[in-house]
Amino acid sequence: MATEEQIPEHATPIDNQITDLRAKKQEAMVAGGEGAIKRQHDRGKLTARERIELFLDKGSFVETDMLVRHRSHGFDIENRRPNSDAVVTGWGTVDDRKVFVFAQDFTVFGGSLGEVMAEKICKIMDLALETGAPVIGINDSGGARIQEGAVSLAGYGYIFDRNVRCSGVIPQISAIMGPCAGGAVYSPALTDFTFMVNETSHMFITGPEIVRAVTGEDVTQEELGGAMTHASKSGATHFVAINDEDCLRQMRYLLSFLPPNNFESPPFFPPTDDAMRSCDELTDLMPDSSNKPYDMHHVIGSVSDDGEFFEVHQHWAQNILCGFARIAGHPVGIVANQPQVLAGTLDISSSIKGARFVRFCDAFNIPLVTFVDVPGFLPGTGQEYGGIIRHGAKLLYAFTEATVPRVTIITRKAYGGAYLVMNSKHLRADISFAWPSAEIAVMGAEGAVNIIHRKELTDADDPEARREELLDDYLERFSNPYIAAERGYVDDVIEPRDTRIRLAQSLEMLRSKRETIPQRKHGSIPL
Ligand code: HXC
Repeated sequence: MATEEQIPEHATPIDNQITDLRAKKQEAMVAGGEGAIKRQHDRGKLTARERIELFLDKGSFVETDMLVRHRSHGFDIENRRPNSDAVVTGWGTVDDRKVFVFAQDFTVFGGSLGEVMAEKICKIMDLALETGAPVIGINDSGGARIQEGAVSLAGYGYIFDRNVRCSGVIPQISAIMGPCAGGAVYSPALTDFTFMVNETSHMFITGPEIVRAVTGEDVTQEELGGAMTHASKSGATHFVAINDEDCLRQMRYLLSFLPPNNFESPPFFPPTDDAMRSCDELTDLMPDSSNKPYDMHHVIGSVSDDGEFFEVHQHWAQNILCGFARIAGHPVGIVANQPQVLAGTLDISSSIKGARFVRFCDAFNIPLVTFVDVPGFLPGTGQEYGGIIRHGAKLLYAFTEATVPRVTIITRKAYGGAYLVMNSKHLRADISFAWPSAEIAVMGAEGAVNIIHRKELTDADDPEARREELLDDYLERFSNPYIAAERGYVDDVIEPRDTRIRLAQSLEMLRSKRETIPQRKHGSIPL
């Protein structure tokens, strides 16, 4: 570091200037003071600079605006004007690929956002947008800087504006690594992916005291806005980390699947796993009864390069699985029903989760692979009153408008409207395969027989025996993939063990896919 270099004994004016510059930069390095840094460490948190250091490739960080100082007055704030203010900004590389980063510095004014801090963040976001590289925001802040009043609110507005303009152009990733409260939550909420750290990060619109005063509910910070709350209940965070180091490592891993911007392809890593590998373990995966669950993770792990699957929203709406994998070295976005949870039905949360993920992949040229085992939409007043019609429509809309390569594998149930929604050929999926166990039908055998043979069953001498006969007949006629295959609704019926090979072949064929869409400002997705 320059500040540690020796200054010559007989200093010239230039030497003095350099000494002065180094002193300023040294001050910026510990702007919050040793006491605040110790407090940060005692809480199990790293400082903003330590986080950036760990996140980026070693030695790649180029800092901007280190000498920025606030120009506010009142409440004594004018007597404390540390260089760098409460955010560290700049760019560097992750796996040799350029990224922009800002890290709020809780050791300075509690990381609170004032005018110049907002300017620093906006500058970095503008550079990221202009140069087409991802922007990563590390949040650890007491929110709007109280001493700066409306000026700090305006600062949030300028950041939100940039979040929206960057959306779909460059990947935006947020880490919550401390407090993030009030309207400040909306910057992370506008970005593509949010990470939270267990125990040390909290995110809420209003804290426990206000909740208690308004609703009478007694709730801790962790219960109200901790990492697992948002990961499993609200869906406001996509990933949970056990500590700061784990969070930064996971963010680097996420970037390995993403292109730098919407004009480029996701990164190719030469695979060590043979694309023509047979997935023999899938041959016996399907249970003997169609009502028995199995874990769709096994299918995804089996077909992906080296079994890798980076799951998004792992703890929320677990009846659908979304995440990134690679096939033949190329990233894909995987969307799959999970028969182990709610029998793999689609409900409000899973529709929202799937739709958001599909739209992200589509915006950033990441092909979609869909695994289907869906018995339908989840019934009940809770779902109907909650708006399953409008939320289910989101997933339908998202798949239909996606122009990236889309490949579907139907493993078992593909019933009714949910079959259509899950990236069916009818919504222009490019390639669709079915396993021999696929059941492509309006509904399951039990329900169908009860409806179409109600009268006959009521009148039968032995209704149970007759029901069995009718069920067998229905299963033979409808619960198979061959009617759909006859009509070309699936492109082939394949053996489960050939799934990886057929996926790799299809995705390779589709790599040059070009699809034009009607000219319009934007669609009107049922939000
Ligand atoms: C100015 C702030 C600050 C703020 C914290 N500090 N929040 N300074 N503006 N918003 C300062 C403290 O004065 C203190 O300074 C230092 O940061 C550390 O704060 P502590 O309270 O000592 O730390 P801790 O006990 O860890 O508590 C952290 C905290 C608490 C939970 C964040 O400080 C807090 O509740 N702050 C206010 C949060 C808040 O209500 N913000 C407004 C949210 S609404 P010294 O000098 O003593 O070290 C909002 C609207 C955004 O942000 C709207 C966008 C549209």
